[in-house]
Amino acid sequence: MTIMRGYITVRADVLVIGSGAAGIRTAIEAHDSGVQDVIVLGKCKKGDAHTVLATGGINAALGTMDPEDSWLIHAADTLMEGWSIADYRAVETLCKNGPDAVNELVRWGARFHREKNGKLTQRFFGAHTYRRTCFYGDQTGKEIMRVLIGQAEKRKIKFMDSMFVVSLLKGPSGVKGALCIDFKNGRMVVFSAKAVVIAAGGYTKLYSRSSSRSYENHGDGAALALNIGIDLVNMEMVQFHPTGMVYPKSAVGTLVTEAVRGEGGTLLNAKGERFMKRYDPVRMELGPRDEVSRAIFNEINKGNGTKHGGVYLDITNVPKNKILERLPKMYRQFKELNGIDISKERMEVAPTAHYTMGGVDVSLTGETKIKGLFAVGETVGQIHGANRLGGNSLLETVVYGKIVGREAAKIAKESERNPLTLIEIENTIAHIDSFFGNGGAKVEDIRAEMQALMWDDVGIVRNETDMKAALDRIMGLKIDFTSVRVPHGLKNNIELKVALETEKMLPLCEAVVRSALIREESRGAHYRSDYKKMSDDWLAETVTRNEGGRVAIYKRQMPKAEGRLAETVRKMKERASHKLLE
Ligand code: FUM
Repeated sequence: MTIMRGYITVRADVLVIGSGAAGIRTAIEAHDSGVQDVIVLGKCKKGDAHTVLATGGINAALGTMDPEDSWLIHAADTLMEGWSIADYRAVETLCKNGPDAVNELVRWGARFHREKNGKLTQRFFGAHTYRRTCFYGDQTGKEIMRVLIGQAEKRKIKFMDSMFVVSLLKGPSGVKGALCIDFKNGRMVVFSAKAVVIAAGGYTKLYSRSSSRSYENHGDGAALALNIGIDLVNMEMVQFHPTGMVYPKSAVGTLVTEAVRGEGGTLLNAKGERFMKRYDPVRMELGPRDEVSRAIFNEINKGNGTKHGGVYLDITNVPKNKILERLPKMYRQFKELNGIDISKERMEVAPTAHYTMGGVDVSLTGETKIKGLFAVGETVGQIHGANRLGGNSLLETVVYGKIVGREAAKIAKESERNPLTLIEIENTIAHIDSFFGNGGAKVEDIRAEMQALMWDDVGIVRNETDMKAALDRIMGLKIDFTSVRVPHGLKNNIELKVALETEKMLPLCEAVVRSALIREESRGAHYRSDYKKMSDDWLAETVTRNEGGRVAIYKRQMPKAEGRLAETVRKMKERASHKLLE
């Protein structure tokens, strides 16, 4: 560690931005590939990344319950759930490596649920052909984090928390590092690195109702990439999970795991009708998330909603001991927050922004077009297409964390360090300085209005008129934002953090709306009431590009699935009852 003109500089060979499962698995693999100097930066406290909220499980075609399952069927389910715009090659990698990745977690000590015969239990999640979701009660993400942190600590991998990355640094021959604020210690930290991996989560916090906590998933990763000239893809693809809590106000949006439905829970409207019969009579509550969310949205809009503006989720048919064994967190959550016993009373739920399929444009091994700059996990855009299968995100973190860690290590071992120049550091510092002062618009108001606009006008059902109005207002908010000022200082300066996050969020909102406007069709999570049908012209992804500070959107054709996977999808489609909600 050295001091450079009053700022701390830290050297790393591989710098990982994000301390969730994807970031930690990447760091472990970089270390095991021969790089000693790996640093993991977290915006939150170590061990408290968003992964701990991932409840229901992790997929792998192990076939422990349904021996007919295979990686090919898992891949076909994933591709169909993504409505044919996931990159089939990335999907193949995800699903082929699933069993090894889950077995590795087990070897490292993950306490996944087992049957009496000792085999791992696998439960149903929505739109899966077979039972393939492994779990630790309903706290699977937390368990995976426990295991990964243990492995990272064994390797003495360094974690630094409360670190907010303001910008990435690059030179003509590749990435150079990152410039951060260490809010805990009140100082700037400049990281010099040979390889940088962005593992900073998604952007569901662009929405007022989401399953993320106030301090996560602001789109930091996508914004850092866009600012440094990396394209984003499919930004309009935001997954609305069917079941979030609807009261009290402080708990609105909190996830109610799909595992409740996987364990036999049913959805009822206020009239007591099991309404999924009308939307997906075959798969019912275990239909794809986009379809179940729209069905709930529709029921509420038709006036069939409950007192708190949701529908009922009923698991009272399942014995209490099984609920306590398989869904202990849900049991506690509803007892504490709603004062109800879910083994006796129905829950009230409604959709919540849960996951973003869009994100950074990367190669099949996670590299961006800047040498040495990688992205992994929810930050990435190619893997899930228009909708994600429940249980695939935890799998993605470990499968791709391993791949990206290995690739980042390779680059770090063969590259020279790109020297940092003072001017680029000073430019960022001058930018931060420009926020200090009095008066101007309040950043909390700008953020709240932005999130409400996104929820109301660019949400579960969208149309051109609403989205154009939202876009106009977002452009207005960008102007308002220029007058935002915050108190001086870095130490625990929450206002500054909120301002820097919001500055990153506004262009991402613009990217989501512009991408949603250009995609004149309905596909997966992107449902337009003015273009209800899916269009073959849009077997393509939207590409968001930073053109000198302007957000520009392009269309790019997707490679068509080939070989055995294409054949499996064709056969399964013949049998499926996939229909868009009219
Ligand atoms: O409902 C859930 O437990 C969510 C799982 C996921 O998004 O993968």
